[in-house]
Amino acid sequence: MPEQIIKAVNVSKIFNKGRRNETVALQDISLEIARNSAVLLRGPSGSGKTTLLTLLSALTKPTSGTIICLEQDISHWQEKFLTGFRRRHLGIIFQNFNLIKTLSVFDNIAVPLIPLPLSAAEIREKVHEISALVQIDHRLQYKAATLSGGEQQRVAIARALIQDPEILIADEPTAHLDSRLSSEILTIFSDLKQRGKTILIATHDPVLNGHPLIDAVFCIKDGRLEPDHVC
Ligand SMILES: Nc1ncnc2c1ncn2[C@@H]1O[C@H](COP(=O)(O)OP(=O)(O)OP(=O)(O)O)[C@@H](O)[C@H]1O
Ligand SMILES: [Mg+2]
Repeated sequence: MPEQIIKAVNVSKIFNKGRRNETVALQDISLEIARNSAVLLRGPSGSGKTTLLTLLSALTKPTSGTIICLEQDISHWQEKFLTGFRRRHLGIIFQNFNLIKTLSVFDNIAVPLIPLPLSAAEIREKVHEISALVQIDHRLQYKAATLSGGEQQRVAIARALIQDPEILIADEPTAHLDSRLSSEILTIFSDLKQRGKTILIATHDPVLNGHPLIDAVFCIKDGRLEPDHVC
């Protein structure tokens, strides 16, 4: 197995290229993420953290450069292949949660299981197990729209974990949690790492500063990685 599970080579992302509102969000990013490590991505608001996570999780394509994930150059794959790739290998916690507000918590957590050949009883068991882990099992029948920010965050975390993904990509996963719950979520992440998973977290949250979970830190500023990893 290769040492690096994700690699970005000279990656740039320009939104609205050639238009008046052109935005250079990322410039010439090269980085490597070791298999079974936990990596922190830091940087000021607007520096490009979310943009980089969406590229590394195959949700958007780079304007230039290459992204290798699990030994495959995913930079220019068609969406139909990327969807299957994400489903098999990645758990993604979005900064804005991306929950389906009209569905129940149970259904939101179960969404990634729909394409799998599982019985209703198996789905129920998995949803109950993961929702208990992130302490949202008391809200399973509530509509997502009725939840607090912290509760929505836990649903987003449960949905990302339900398929036991090889790589977990988390954008501000503790932003809406109190300090006790944040540290419990980080304990869950530490358990995942112990089980061989790779974890990439973008955050402002000081709770991650010097946290034993973290093996490496990348600092991003104005769309560029800081060479000395200091931020
Ligand atoms: N879809 C888009 N279209 C145009 N510009 C975008 C788009 N997405 C992001 N940007 C711009 O790219 C830059 C980087 O945004 P990004 O969301 O990656 O920052 P961030 O570091 O995640 O910020 P925050 O800490 O506030 O979440 C910003 O200037 C943003 O306005
Ligand atoms: Mg962001």
